[in-house]
Amino acid sequence: MEQSVEVINHIIRNRRSIFPPSYIDKEIPNEIISNILENANYAPTHKLTEPWRFIVFRGESLKHLAGFFSERYRTQTAPESFSQARYDAAGEKVLKSNCVIIINAELHPEKLPEWEETASVACAVQNMWLTATAYGIGSYWSSPGVLKELGAFLDLPENQKCLGLFFMSYHDAPEAPARRTSIQEKVTWA
Ligand SMILES: Cc1cc2nc3c(=O)[nH]c(=O)nc-3n(C[C@H](O)[C@H](O)[C@H](O)COP(=O)(O)O)c2cc1C
Repeated sequence: MEQSVEVINHIIRNRRSIFPPSYIDKEIPNEIISNILENANYAPTHKLTEPWRFIVFRGESLKHLAGFFSERYRTQTAPESFSQARYDAAGEKVLKSNCVIIINAELHPEKLPEWEETASVACAVQNMWLTATAYGIGSYWSSPGVLKELGAFLDLPENQKCLGLFFMSYHDAPEAPARRTSIQEKVTWA
């Protein structure tokens, strides 16, 4: 038991956000992606609504997702300012990733307030993030301003809300300490 406490302390404290510039071209086996998702499924969930919903993009489908960001750049840019380099760059983060998982929440307004479902999905994402860390896979949760439009692009059902993208790849980022202030500043012992 003591040994597992050391292991979990290590994984929690060494988990970092690892971004696409550090991603390397190495395939993540499907079984590992499945195990990362399986651990998401053990997140705590009030009233057992299990609100986490995921869409996995890999291989060819990543091009489709990258196209969303590039096309968005095109529609937001006056034709005379359009730059092919910027168009390509808009989809680059997705194309540098080996796997991108869209994070959605299924809402049940008759049962729970939205914040509880969001909190539960965040717990599921943390499970994924920690599991990815244990496998040596770099990942991070991205929440760009275009989430609403992304939901429409993905044709999400009315009762689902897109909360972000989870980028994943093996990487060559050096180990970096967490940037945090002391927990003592955030806790009051009553
Ligand atoms: C809900 C959520 C959304 C986030 N969205 C972004 C994002 O859009 N872009 C980004 O660079 N990082 C994003 N992050 C990652 C944070 O920037 C990162 O967790 C923070 O810098 C601390 O670094 P660490 O994860 O390595 O400890 C997000 C994190 C969370 C929890």
